[in-house]
Amino acid sequence: MRDEDGVTIRLEDYRPADFQIHHVDMTVRLFEGHAEIDTTLELERRPGAPADAELRLDGDELTLTTLALDGVAVPAQGFEAAADRLTLRGLPQSGRFRLAIGTRIEPERNTKLMGLYRSNGVWCTQCEAEGFRRITYFLDRPDCLATYRVRLEADREAAPILLANGNPVGGGPLGELRHFAEWFDPHPKPSYLFAVVAGRLDAVSETFVTGSGREVALTIYTERGLSERAGYAMDALKRSMRWDERRFGREYDLDVFNIVAISDFNMGAMENKGLNVFNHKYVLLDPDTATDADYAGVETVIAHEYFHNWTGNRITCRDWFQLCLKEGLTVYRDQEFSSDERSRPVKRIASVHTLKANQFPEDQGPLQHPVRPTQYREINNFYTATVYDKGSELVRMIATILGEQKFRAGMDLYFERHDGEAATIEDFVTCFEDAGGIDLSQFFLWYQQAGTPKLEVSQIYDETAGRLTLRLRQSLDKGAAGTGTRPMHIPVRYGLVGANGQDLDVSGASTDARVDGDLIHLTGEEATVTFDGLSGRPYLSILRDFSAPVDLRYNEAEADRLALARLDPNPFGRWRALTDMVGDALVAAIRNGQDAAPDSVLDAMVAAAADETLEPALRAQMVSLPGETELTRLVARDVDTDVIHAVRVSTLAALGRRGQGTFEALRRELADTGAFSPSAQAAGRRALRNTLLAPLATAARDPSVAVTQYETARNMSDRLAALTVLTHHFAGSAAAETALGAFYERFVDDQLVLDKWFMLQASAPDAGTLDKVVALAAHPAFRLANPNRARALLAGLAGLNPYVFHRADGAGYRWMADMLGKLDTLNPQTAARMATAFRSWRSMEPKRREAAQAALSELAGRDGLSRDLADILDRTLR
Ligand code: ARG
Ligand code: ZN
Repeated sequence: MRDEDGVTIRLEDYRPADFQIHHVDMTVRLFEGHAEIDTTLELERRPGAPADAELRLDGDELTLTTLALDGVAVPAQGFEAAADRLTLRGLPQSGRFRLAIGTRIEPERNTKLMGLYRSNGVWCTQCEAEGFRRITYFLDRPDCLATYRVRLEADREAAPILLANGNPVGGGPLGELRHFAEWFDPHPKPSYLFAVVAGRLDAVSETFVTGSGREVALTIYTERGLSERAGYAMDALKRSMRWDERRFGREYDLDVFNIVAISDFNMGAMENKGLNVFNHKYVLLDPDTATDADYAGVETVIAHEYFHNWTGNRITCRDWFQLCLKEGLTVYRDQEFSSDERSRPVKRIASVHTLKANQFPEDQGPLQHPVRPTQYREINNFYTATVYDKGSELVRMIATILGEQKFRAGMDLYFERHDGEAATIEDFVTCFEDAGGIDLSQFFLWYQQAGTPKLEVSQIYDETAGRLTLRLRQSLDKGAAGTGTRPMHIPVRYGLVGANGQDLDVSGASTDARVDGDLIHLTGEEATVTFDGLSGRPYLSILRDFSAPVDLRYNEAEADRLALARLDPNPFGRWRALTDMVGDALVAAIRNGQDAAPDSVLDAMVAAAADETLEPALRAQMVSLPGETELTRLVARDVDTDVIHAVRVSTLAALGRRGQGTFEALRRELADTGAFSPSAQAAGRRALRNTLLAPLATAARDPSVAVTQYETARNMSDRLAALTVLTHHFAGSAAAETALGAFYERFVDDQLVLDKWFMLQASAPDAGTLDKVVALAAHPAFRLANPNRARALLAGLAGLNPYVFHRADGAGYRWMADMLGKLDTLNPQTAARMATAFRSWRSMEPKRREAAQAALSELAGRDGLSRDLADILDRTLR
């Protein structure tokens, strides 16, 4: 499948492997300093495979120790072994044969955190996407499904807990000091779902009874002394299991379900069959150390990985080009779960906010790629917002187009048809065509064409005829990916809102497109929809619930936006109208050299904050100003981050002045009393109260309100909100320094809270930040090899702090490039991920653009860069 350059892999080159691996028997012996892996593969030549086909197994930094075919050592002329490949010739033509492979690896020296590695003394694995080949030689590709029996042997003292996939089937002592455990996973799975864990771990356990009455033992393992913090994760797990039964009819299928929290982990978490391994950030919580956002994150990630058991594990991907088959669908499922467990509009707004912040810039910049890519150099660089979040939007559009019942029928058909298989996006979409009796061939373009389509909307109202005419027009520019630009099937949800805030009857629309009630199917380049018999001009609430991931261009009158922000019966519509107005006002101020957004806009935000017909969490979303990163995206060209910062800060202060009385009254009313609850309602009240802190403090030019909140806070949400205002708006002040010092002292032994301490300082929009960050990189608690800590500092600066990262003198860029170079020698995957912070460099004003390009080119020109980082840098500069 590899190109002549040995690097690019293409979808069109896919073909099945010449051999099948039916079963894997593995013994993993763990020692201080190294591990020995004995693997026996039960193999068979695939029917129809060429008789002279060699068996080419993948490896990565491996050392072969033994090799035997059906019990006989393979002679030297029968194989070729390299660190990255084991090739065998002359294998049996028919029937099953057994290949025994021995490898020796050094988990302690594995800083890439792919394959088998050691984190804080705990042995653990990460095999997606291509980590299994760092443990043993294998057909390390997702369409190669096998059952696994795994035996673990280790020192009893160092590793009293020994875990693998599937069900436990045996174990016991091995002499004085060592012991073993055996596990069998009856569900054929690809190697990327393989996992083992061994170490000194604490646990919490509960029993779950499935809908059909099977008992499942649930256990969450943590490092010693941290298991009391796993209670909420356990609760989220049980709720996820119940939800998947109710909503999708999916039950769990093993006797045990284990989760392990690990402190050095590249990504969020991993759905290994029956043995999920998590970044401990997505397991460990208590009110004193975790914010409400952390609680919501744990709930989402626990659910996401659990849902993978059906969408990813039972049905997996044929090849890595199909990654969105499991990721987009599973994100859709976890979003639906959160909507049902919390608040649907608030969750939808949060998801759309994330999509615009992370996916839109990716889709409109040099790292653009279709939801289903057709080529890659390094697959780990495709675990992107486009595959995950836009992938989820595509599933959501299918649900919107089909309606709830037909969508569920399509999902049922998918599970029925493809259970136990490695499937493609074509397989998936066909299920909805069959269940819905609908042609989705035009819709399929969403998977193939990269870029964010523009949706232009205009309206004409004929007063005398009482007729409203809407015009919709879609277009797609050719971007970096160079994919097609044909019109797509865009579902546009809308409403017409009357003067008293009622949805008008829209059933009489006439159109040259297809309209189903409140849903317009825009399939051509343009469509016109006409409504007759209106008694006055209604307000158009367009793209309700963000029914398609498009860039909405609607020349909407400010009066309409003000009315919709107050009146739209669709809560998402209210947020949409208000935030579009706020965003446009800020961009205008930034472009035209004005000081701040106008009062009319700020007053609408104040009114939304005080609107008691809305839940507090939604009011918090409506009264939040866009951050500087978001403004960088909205300004889009010739960006000067100094101006963005200045306008945002004065707007924040102006908002605080306009809203002072209202905000202070609200903060008193919402003050923390009683016992802590992590519920969405309680979190929403905290969110609203804390959102009002920055405008009030900046308006007063006085940190005391934040100091008081910091000192009296009884949970991390309130404490961190106060500390953020102090460090970000009163940077360098005695108040900020005192609070930062107190915070450090209080949480010095808590890794997850220290990450917050690093990130908070790196993200402060202040002239002194870069010096501070340089010092923090030399702080005794800083560890570049720990992904969470590295991310706190590097992404804190480059991702969350445009004012400093995009400094006109280029010092931010140079610092980041330098750190990426260092990180790349330890952990290429994390370095590559953080390098994506440079993706919008071309939207900067010329001086910054030049500085960014120089820093990027210098880094890209260094010798010995990883394939991961080189791939990102090449595409970013291209
Ligand atoms: N499948 C995991 C998840 O859902 C992500 C694992 C990605 N790992 C990687 N090395 N690229 O979210
Ligand atoms: Zn996932």
